[in-house]
Amino acid sequence: MAALAACAGLAIGVAVQVRAANDKFTFPADYASGVEYLSVDKPSKQIHVFYASRGAIEAAKAGKPMPEGTVFTGVHYNAKLDAQGNPEKDANGRFIRADLRQYAVMRKEKGWGAEYPADKRNGDWEYRIFTADRQWNEKVGAGPCLDCHLPKSGQDFVMSYDNLKKAGQ
Ligand code: HEC
Repeated sequence: MAALAACAGLAIGVAVQVRAANDKFTFPADYASGVEYLSVDKPSKQIHVFYASRGAIEAAKAGKPMPEGTVFTGVHYNAKLDAQGNPEKDANGRFIRADLRQYAVMRKEKGWGAEYPADKRNGDWEYRIFTADRQWNEKVGAGPCLDCHLPKSGQDFVMSYDNLKKAGQ
């Protein structure tokens, strides 16, 4: 019985250790102190507003991969809808923000992503969804994020690399 208890204790210890590395990817509370460089009206009736840490802009302008510690934050809003359920548009033909839906965040840290198979891994990037109240939504796995961003390996898996190049500081 004692041996069993010790064994269970060990198992919990290991799980906690893995979780600890994981827990480093918390919500980037300072995202808005970076650069807002892109806003996209999505067919899904959402508006995605993107922020980059400053080093990311410099790296893109220099044609380089993103530095370690780079964070991109996509702030997802629901679009304001008219009575027919279609997005209303402002004077510039753009969607109008309604409520905040969630955040999509990608972050690059040395050794991250090592648990993914080679044909899925996006270098050292990890992807997460955070809820509107800034909690990690563990129910949304990184699989689809990895798959869709993977073809952009030539530009460090960053879809909006060209937008970064054009961004003001
Ligand atoms: C079906 C393809 C697709 C999937 C799946 C996807 N993305 Fe993206 N992502 C894009 C595109 C395209 C952009 C460029 C901006 C835009 O057009 O919305 C982008 C941009 C981003 C950016 C800004 C940096 C960059 O690479 O341009 C972040 C952050 C991001 N996605 C996070 C995520 C997260 C987190 C997930 C998974 C929960 C995810 N993405 C899943 C297509 C995808």
